[in-house]
Amino acid sequence: MEFPTFSVLPRHVAVIMDGNGRWAKKRGLPRTAGHIEGARTFRKIGEYAGDLGIRHITFYAFSTENWSRPENEVSAIMKLFGDYLEESRERLEESIQKGIRLRFLGDKSRIDPALTALMDFMEEATAGGKKIDLNIALNYGGQQEILQAVKSLARDAANGTIDPDAIDAGAFESRLYTAGQPPVDLMIRPSGEQRISNFLLWQSAYAEFWYSDVLWPDFTEEHFNEALRAYEKRNRRFGGV
Ligand code: FPP
Repeated sequence: MEFPTFSVLPRHVAVIMDGNGRWAKKRGLPRTAGHIEGARTFRKIGEYAGDLGIRHITFYAFSTENWSRPENEVSAIMKLFGDYLEESRERLEESIQKGIRLRFLGDKSRIDPALTALMDFMEEATAGGKKIDLNIALNYGGQQEILQAVKSLARDAANGTIDPDAIDAGAFESRLYTAGQPPVDLMIRPSGEQRISNFLLWQSAYAEFWYSDVLWPDFTEEHFNEALRAYEKRNRRFGGV
């Protein structure tokens, strides 16, 4: 397969995998069928981003608010996530060869311990990956992430290991789930919605946004190229002129 070339690539792309439910509804299928197809799209786009040389990519799989969905939908998403983890473990050698580093963003304390054990194992086993950081946000909320970073700094300030006046952006970022990774350059949201939905709030301060009406299960490599082409044309000023 021939890959398109881009004059500039975002270092960090964030993707809100939205529209699975509507995709299923349009076909008279249960919502879970949309998530199954969405998980396939996730694999396809994750792989494609790696092939293109995107250095960091973050997919929003499950938010802190998604627990309020019907129990069968929550367990279906967790099952798909678990299937992906199992498959990743089976293909560990391939991931290591490709330089993939798997990272999970979010509060692990509410996740099934069998899953978190596998998450921890995969994070450690792929920690040496230098080509692509593949981040999956699970039980993730941007406000919750900021709060836990604040609490961790406050604890250290209270016990005297950090000087409150020395807390700068770098010190704060080192407490985020994305510690060590650059901010989001490009945020992709399919399915016609145009909101940030508590995703990577701190990290997206200067992100470029790209929206599309396509539903996530229908999202293709071509849509990803389209977002990258749009990004190429953006004039990023970061508050300057
Ligand atoms: C949003 O669509 C999608 C989700 C809340 C779940 C996303 C999960 C997956 C794609 C599968 C599991 C993930 C991995 C990493 C294997 P929606 O249900 O809100 O769609 P709607 O707005 O059309 O109802």
